[in-house]
Amino acid sequence: MCGIVGILGRAPVAEQLVDSLKRLEYRGYDSAGVATLENGALARRRAEGKLKNLEARLEAKPLGGHTGIGHTRWATHGRPTENNAHPHATERVAVVHNGIIENFRELREGLEAKGTVFSTETDTEVVVHLVDNLLKGGVAPVEAVRAVLSQLRGAFALGLIFAGEDDLMIGARNGPPLAIGHGDGEMYLGSDAIALGPFTDTISYLEDGDWVVLNRKGATIFDKDNAIVHREAIKHLTATALVDKANYRHFMAKEIHEQPEVVGHTLARYVDMATERVTMPVKLPFDFKNIQRVSITACGTASYAGFVAKYWLERLARLPVELDVASEFRYREAPLRKGDLAVFISQSGETADTLAALRYAKAQGAYTLSVVNVPTSTIARESEVVLPTLAGPEIGVASTKAFTCQLMVLASLAVAAGKARGELSDADEAKLVHSLVEIPRLMSEALTTEPHIEKLAREISKSRDVLYLGRGTSYPLALEGALKLKEISYIHAEGYAAGELKHGPIALIDEHMPVVVIAPYDKVFEKTVSNMQEVAARGGKIILMTDARGAAEATIQSLVTIVMPDMGATFAPMVYAVPVQLLAYHTAVVMGTDVDQPRNLAKSVTVE
Ligand code: AGP
Repeated sequence: MCGIVGILGRAPVAEQLVDSLKRLEYRGYDSAGVATLENGALARRRAEGKLKNLEARLEAKPLGGHTGIGHTRWATHGRPTENNAHPHATERVAVVHNGIIENFRELREGLEAKGTVFSTETDTEVVVHLVDNLLKGGVAPVEAVRAVLSQLRGAFALGLIFAGEDDLMIGARNGPPLAIGHGDGEMYLGSDAIALGPFTDTISYLEDGDWVVLNRKGATIFDKDNAIVHREAIKHLTATALVDKANYRHFMAKEIHEQPEVVGHTLARYVDMATERVTMPVKLPFDFKNIQRVSITACGTASYAGFVAKYWLERLARLPVELDVASEFRYREAPLRKGDLAVFISQSGETADTLAALRYAKAQGAYTLSVVNVPTSTIARESEVVLPTLAGPEIGVASTKAFTCQLMVLASLAVAAGKARGELSDADEAKLVHSLVEIPRLMSEALTTEPHIEKLAREISKSRDVLYLGRGTSYPLALEGALKLKEISYIHAEGYAAGELKHGPIALIDEHMPVVVIAPYDKVFEKTVSNMQEVAARGGKIILMTDARGAAEATIQSLVTIVMPDMGATFAPMVYAVPVQLLAYHTAVVMGTDVDQPRNLAKSVTVE
């Protein structure tokens, strides 16, 4: 996924473009570039790697011009080199692109057959030449873009500027988000409201298929049938919220520590403390009594939140739940029926696999409900029901506070479902609400384990492989712990159901293989102790995350025991996520990896 920005300004824009790209770096950071109009001519500066390399390039050779576009790249087609860095341009047109032009090969072959010479490995370059050829033939820019858009297939958000056209910028959206910023005598284009935050808090979002012609007086938006449409301009608060690290070394550290606060905000939206009842923030278009089956679909960390929710919905509401990773869901042609409930979980609300799954479920006639952190995102806007997480902008690529806020929303939903289906009495609900209300305090207590974990991380950082084990709702958390460690420290890790250890993975166990066991004291704790004995008997090093009772009853020598606050086991994943996240974070810090922007990753993957 990449970040794009454009400014029709009243002053030189190069520096503002870079400022905006800094806010978009979480979307991808393989390379970056800007293009402006200097005395009517297009000029570019591009650089491989992080944005600071582009800044150095601009320092050495500044760019003038009040009209410009910028791009920060997560490579899909073509290596992350300077030559493949956006903007791509000819002397007539410059283009920035987020997404994939799926038919770029046939378009490229057609162009090459007519003599066009390509100079990059990217799919984006076909857009440049298609537009350029029409401009060369005397077609006006707006008409040229209209004609080219009808030839493109795939997911794309585009920004274009044209030589000699200082008061013109064109944007197009088909999949990845694109927003218009409304300024005072200036207009902006950006991948999201965060990018436009330094310039304006008045934002309009393009819909799929929309394209827009901007000048400094405003925007003319066309839909996919080229009819002029209106897209509401809204005040977007987070647009102006300055997203910075406060006094933390990394965004991820800040976001881990924000969890008690933001999970508390989310809790307050879903639980009425006065009546000790769970309340949905929106009216549900269905009655849980009539729902026969729930499907939960998401990617990565969000899918593990969904996995935990499966246990909760089945246990508290006696609702059968099917769980899918989104990239598999629609291709296995899940047999959804009208009246089923399809739940989608996504921090960004723009993950292409999850969006495609949502559209599949909708086509099957299922109710669609999404749990998202960006209420203006595409997944939110295409869902019948949106249950927002109130995590605030999550910048670290590794999802932390969004995950625990997702769990809070899903726990509330499970209680609401159980109540509606008559599986939970008022007293049951009040008891569960009490447990939920304690979560933020328990998370604060869990954060006090950080010094132990920081020390433990030095041990873990020496490992080549790490195993995470859990039972019940700790099993999805074991999967999440392994993902966190992998994606930011680059140490291989796997999560397993503890009971599965003896069916193969135990062959891996020796003194070089740390085993992280996530096990609050619960009704299966003894069974997990047996699994730990199997590990200890083979010289495995155990890191046990449990509570005081578990620590007392785990009669085996563990390398380290992280003692967590006492709590009921039901909602433990929200609290045990904290040490799991801290362990990955501190291990990555020891490894010296780029914690907030790990290699090869992006914050939201808006391509399939
Ligand atoms: C989580 O730490 C990863 N960054 C990744 O697995 C992420 O959860 C996944 O890509 C889904 O993103 P979403 O929640 O924005 O849909």
